[in-house]
Amino acid sequence: MIGRLNHVAIVVPDLNAAASLYRDTLGARVSLPHPLPAHGVTVVFVELPNSKIELLEPLGPRSPVRGFLDDNPHGGMHHVCYEVDDIIAARDWLRHSGARVLGDGEPKIGAHDKPVLFLHPKDFCGTLIELEQA
Ligand code: CO
Repeated sequence: MIGRLNHVAIVVPDLNAAASLYRDTLGARVSLPHPLPAHGVTVVFVELPNSKIELLEPLGPRSPVRGFLDDNPHGGMHHVCYEVDDIIAARDWLRHSGARVLGDGEPKIGAHDKPVLFLHPKDFCGTLIELEQA
């Protein structure tokens, strides 16, 4: 069911420092910071030949990644995102299989303007999974 690895998301305490690390030390192509107030994050996209890394910094007091940063003050891997062809079919199959879909189960528009859902990390080896309709 899952297809390409779309991105790995890393929450960071200092987005400019993290972007500089990926650009200057690791030699990657990085975007300018994009504030996404609806998601409570500012994101820098790191373009790799075969996938992307998203560097996420909390935006606003109710950011959903604020608590993660409190637990991991140096930052850390937050989620992996896999592409699916049909997010509704994927959701229905996963629920049927006993996996927990976070929130109300209705896809939301993610950072790439495509529908996304998140799956409970306790059902997937301790990893938060994002599904994005390709
Ligand atoms: Co993501």
